[in-house]
Amino acid sequence: MAGAGISTPSGVPDFRSPGSGLYDNLQQYELPYAEAVFELSFFHQNPRPFFSLAKELYPGNHRPNLSHHFVRLLHTKRQLLRMYTQNIDGLERQAGIPPEMLVEAHGTFATATCTSCLREYEGEELRPDVMRGVIPKCPTCKGVVKPDIVFFGEELPRRFFQYLTDFPQADLLIVMGTSLEVEPFAGLAGSVRGSVPRLLINRDPVGSFCGRRPRDVLLLGDVVAGVRTLVHALGWTQELHALMEAAAEKAPTKTEE
Ligand code: APR
Repeated sequence: MAGAGISTPSGVPDFRSPGSGLYDNLQQYELPYAEAVFELSFFHQNPRPFFSLAKELYPGNHRPNLSHHFVRLLHTKRQLLRMYTQNIDGLERQAGIPPEMLVEAHGTFATATCTSCLREYEGEELRPDVMRGVIPKCPTCKGVVKPDIVFFGEELPRRFFQYLTDFPQADLLIVMGTSLEVEPFAGLAGSVRGSVPRLLINRDPVGSFCGRRPRDVLLLGDVVAGVRTLVHALGWTQELHALMEAAAEKAPTKTEE
């Protein structure tokens, strides 16, 4: 299970870290409160704040970091049952984790839907407008096209309910870089069997880890340092670096602005 904290080492701000979190940096949009940026009622009234945020979060401007490549390595070693992520930066796919191994619980920029006629679009079709600060409009009906990011109050993707079969099968749960503040995603952390060890890799204890189950392990501090410690204990340091080097060679050079 992952949240925005695994992407801050890639330069993507998280939501709630004091000072650096997105919710502390939306003043210029005169939002009634920070989360309004992800509320449909506010979006229909004024989509501009969301699209300004989308410009910062849109896939393509950041690179996966060691945390993402660690999950890819778990998959390569056939240890990954599934990765549940709240993130919308697309860095899991970019790290080479196959889509069928992913549940992007809060949606994705990979696809978009017209808010008026519900026509579907590829995220790439919106990129030029989003990068230019222009609100993407549907050529069919002129409605505003919204990336398939789950807004507060919206249904989670149907794929989220895969957890009903995944979590009872898990024999280890790793939770990385999330405040576990948002339901129903946060509740997944308590839905593995009582005998299953849970490892939290996060700056601070969060959610049901504050209560501490007997087999909980907390690796507190920077997520990259925590993953490095775990990978070292597993004897996988060389393999992980080899994976990251191969990924760096394949990654397209960062387009200069
Ligand atoms: N190393 C370790 N922990 C980190 C790091 C880091 N480099 N960076 C951030 N963190 C921790 C923060 O301390 C915090 O506990 O990661 C957590 C990030 O929490 P949030 O900012 O709340 O992000 P997240 O949990 O993903 O938010 C959940 O809230 O607004 C909604 O839909 C949005 O998906 C998002 C959801």
